[in-house]
Amino acid sequence: MRAIVQDRYGPPGEVLELKEIERPAPGPGEVLVRVRASSVNTPDWIAVTGVPYALRLQGRVRRAANVVRGSDVAGIVEAVGAGVDFGVGDRVFGSLWTSRFVTAGAFAEFTAVPAERLAPIPAGVGFEEAAASVMSGVTALCAMRDTVDVREGMKVLVNGASGGVGTFAVQLAAHFGAEVTGVCGTSNLDMVRGLGARHVIDYTRTDFTEGSERYDVILDNVLNHPPSRTARALAPDGVLIPNSIGNGGGLLAGLGRMARARFLGAAGRVDVRFSPSEASRENLTAVSELLASGAIRAVIDRSYPLEETAQAVAHMLGHHARGNIVISVPEGPQAP
Ligand SMILES: NC(=O)c1ccc[n+]([C@@H]2O[C@H](COP(=O)([O-])OP(=O)(O)OC[C@H]3O[C@@H](n4cnc5c(N)ncnc54)[C@H](OP(=O)(O)O)[C@@H]3O)[C@@H](O)[C@H]2O)c1
Repeated sequence: MRAIVQDRYGPPGEVLELKEIERPAPGPGEVLVRVRASSVNTPDWIAVTGVPYALRLQGRVRRAANVVRGSDVAGIVEAVGAGVDFGVGDRVFGSLWTSRFVTAGAFAEFTAVPAERLAPIPAGVGFEEAAASVMSGVTALCAMRDTVDVREGMKVLVNGASGGVGTFAVQLAAHFGAEVTGVCGTSNLDMVRGLGARHVIDYTRTDFTEGSERYDVILDNVLNHPPSRTARALAPDGVLIPNSIGNGGGLLAGLGRMARARFLGAAGRVDVRFSPSEASRENLTAVSELLASGAIRAVIDRSYPLEETAQAVAHMLGHHARGNIVISVPEGPQAP
């Protein structure tokens, strides 16, 4: 099968190569998925570049030795291992992500995925939309539904409202009845408003941390301000969700600000909550129901063919994607 393989860290254009490799076989509890689409997320560019270096030192980025990257997947069940409740031909979407940045397998024609990290794609939802909704959709859902139980009338600010996670977070918070403020650049204001944000702030003109408005929840997907400054925009019982590894390179990138947010929370002055991205069958099913009902949709910036995965990852590294970046895999040859 064709796959995007990496054997060292570096810029995507230099280290990602399209190669013929052996097709994986599904083990017990696993599903072999004929990939039709994947999407690019923060863990993918981290795994490709090996930056921030601190994650390498912690052993949280697997050594790049002939590995296939990519975690989000949408496709068709080709074969199943023992004890799997999907049938051949089912349309499924899900994740290979583990919290250790071992994103292995989705940028390929076939991949083996644990069945509990897959859910059926609902009728009317395409492969690209499904793939775009895995990490971004689940991360936003975990933040807005679980980390804080966003309710009718709450004031929610989403910083980085026009990115992959932000576009879902704005829609979900609005769906749960919140009064949403989206912070994004000038060219994305209308798009974010169209997703359900009642207010939009153009960060090139206005610094939301300097304003007089106070929010019950701030989901910070950018961490471009020190967390103590961002917290100034919180209502007295407000919750800050720091959610960014940052855009910089070097040893730490945004990890330093995440640590500062942790100290801020530990000092007891601010309710700081970190939010996971748990692509369980249950969470994927919740996302699929929201997609099927039209409550949310995936915003897709651009779709790249598999052989242009390096360009797709480089696009993500620009940190100005408008929604999600998708990789599309044609139907390909039938399996022998
Ligand atoms: N909790 C988890 O497990 C988990 C999982 C996935 C991702 N994440 C985190 O979530 C964050 C967001 O991910 P993503 O996929 O949404 O990233 P993304 O798609 O790369 O975000 C790009 C967006 O950020 C916006 N942006 C850039 N600079 C900005 C600024 N100064 N102020 C406001 N917006 C700005 C850009 O808008 P403009 O083009 O308008 O500038 C662009 O639309 C990442 O940092 C990642 O670390 C966490």
